[in-house]
Amino acid sequence: MSIILFTPHYLSDMIKFVIYTSKTSTSLSKIALNALIVKSRHNNKENLITGILLHINGVFLQYIEGPEDKIDQLYQKIKEDDRHKDLKILESGLRETRKYNEWQMLFKKITLAELYQLIGNKKDDLKNINMPLIDHDMAKQIFEQFQI
Ligand SMILES: Cc1cc2nc3c(=O)[nH]c(=O)nc-3n(C[C@H](O)[C@H](O)[C@H](O)COP(=O)(O)O)c2cc1C
Repeated sequence: MSIILFTPHYLSDMIKFVIYTSKTSTSLSKIALNALIVKSRHNNKENLITGILLHINGVFLQYIEGPEDKIDQLYQKIKEDDRHKDLKILESGLRETRKYNEWQMLFKKITLAELYQLIGNKKDDLKNINMPLIDHDMAKQIFEQFQI
């Protein structure tokens, strides 16, 4: 009798997501930031990656999701990118469905006033408002506002 082993279909279809923060290492000009976004959207479309990129007072907060191998490759590239530093993964894992199906990479610049509104009572935990320290709970709270 032979036993055939195979990967269940639902496993191979899982979506990987990564949420991370980083600090801008250089003061990115509007033009440089725009080029980064255009390139990211182009790449992400090809690689079936969706998500959100927020720029908050010198800090990036990004949610990327897509096929596991593509997300791993992208995260590796992002990690090696010298336009930012101090990358910190706040959460990563697998989900059955995407959260941001429609956005190749929604980009939004968020002011401190908007950040305060988004995180409400956690405002005192930010530590340094010039480079706000976004933690896991804050990130979740922030991304919830972008639910579609
Ligand atoms: C904060 C930040 C977010 C980025 N997000 C993405 C992204 O979502 N998709 C992407 O392809 N590149 C992203 N990049 C750029 C990558 O680090 C890398 O430069 C790019 O993927 C290289 O693309 P290429 O291999 O086609 O030249 C990001 C870079 C930074 C600094």
